Amino acid sequence: MVILDQELRRRAGMISGAIEELLPVVHPRELYSAGRHLVDAGGKRLRPCMLLLAAEAVGGDPKGVVPAAVSIELVHNFTLIHDDIMDNAATRRGRPAVHVKWDEAGAILAGDTLYSKAFEILTASEAGPEDMVASVKMLARTCASICEGQWLDMEFERREEVTEAEYLEMVEKKTAVLYGAAGWIGSRLVGGSDEEVEGLERFGRLVGIAFQIQDDVLDLTAPAEVLGKPRGGDLAEGKKTLIMIDAISKGVDIPIFSKKNATTEEIEAALTILRASGSIDYARKRAVRLVEEGKDALAVIPDSEAKRLLMKLSDYMISRSY
Ligand code: IPE
Ligand code: IPE
Ligand code: MG
Ligand code: MG
Ligand code: MG
Repeated sequence: MVILDQELRRRAGMISGAIEELLPVVHPRELYSAGRHLVDAGGKRLRPCMLLLAAEAVGGDPKGVVPAAVSIELVHNFTLIHDDIMDNAATRRGRPAVHVKWDEAGAILAGDTLYSKAFEILTASEAGPEDMVASVKMLARTCASICEGQWLDMEFERREEVTEAEYLEMVEKKTAVLYGAAGWIGSRLVGGSDEEVEGLERFGRLVGIAFQIQDDVLDLTAPAEVLGKPRGGDLAEGKKTLIMIDAISKGVDIPIFSKKNATTEEIEAALTILRASGSIDYARKRAVRLVEEGKDALAVIPDSEAKRLLMKLSDYMISRSY
């Protein structure tokens, strides 16, 4: 993990430096400050790292695709700003959410600004016109898919029963497609073959689903100081995570709280029931299988240091503690 840490940190540093240059705080400064609020709080930068590694894995120079990597990170941050409004979440990355520090109107606009800038910045990457147009189209389709997934996520809050297949569709759309796009765009912009580009997209999607399962597990298990937000938020919002779906199917009696009404004690009591149900282990095992499938999709990529790092990155996506 030490080598992966160094490699990720180096690439994350490249991204943060490029954000400074590509997304300056300009007039009206408060709008751009709101847009940069979460971006500057860090985050793991896993998606842009995957994009850079995908470019390297097909023999490309990652420097030319740094703007594309920034654009993927900005799309991610746009979704987080809006997600915190949808999820009634007041804290993110240890900071007040954008809609708390400013207000909902400000957060909607800050998110829209990052979303728009992402497309402009993507086109600053070095690539031929055809690969660029194809990548812009890919990013646009990805963003629409994220909205579909987020819609389903909220619709499921109001439903008693959600199947595992429905859950998998929802998380593929809200989360995994952005990892898929990172693999696809990173490799396509540097001229990867169709087979390689498709392999990297498939890898991103499969490990992206596993990543969201781990996110759902951490929401129940990680300490708030590590997570940067209170534990059990999904429970309080009635989210149908894989853990909840499995527990419900086993007939485990979990108090499902209506919005904003649950006390910390009630959440902790429900967490204890869920931990004892075996459903967290069930979800973890499902995530391991998805990562294995994801690695299989990399069979079309020649062996290289970048490919090895992609595999380690996928292991980290489900072993991470925050
Ligand atoms: C959180 O993503 C949102 C999800 C899609 C689950 P990350 O855990 O990658 O967030 P940061 O960027 O590291 O804060
Ligand atoms: C977020 O899923 C997915 C997107 C932002 C598209 P979550 O709602 O689980 O993410 P966190 O837990 O708030 O980071
Ligand atoms: Mg959400
Ligand atoms: Mg959320
Ligand atoms: Mg979550």
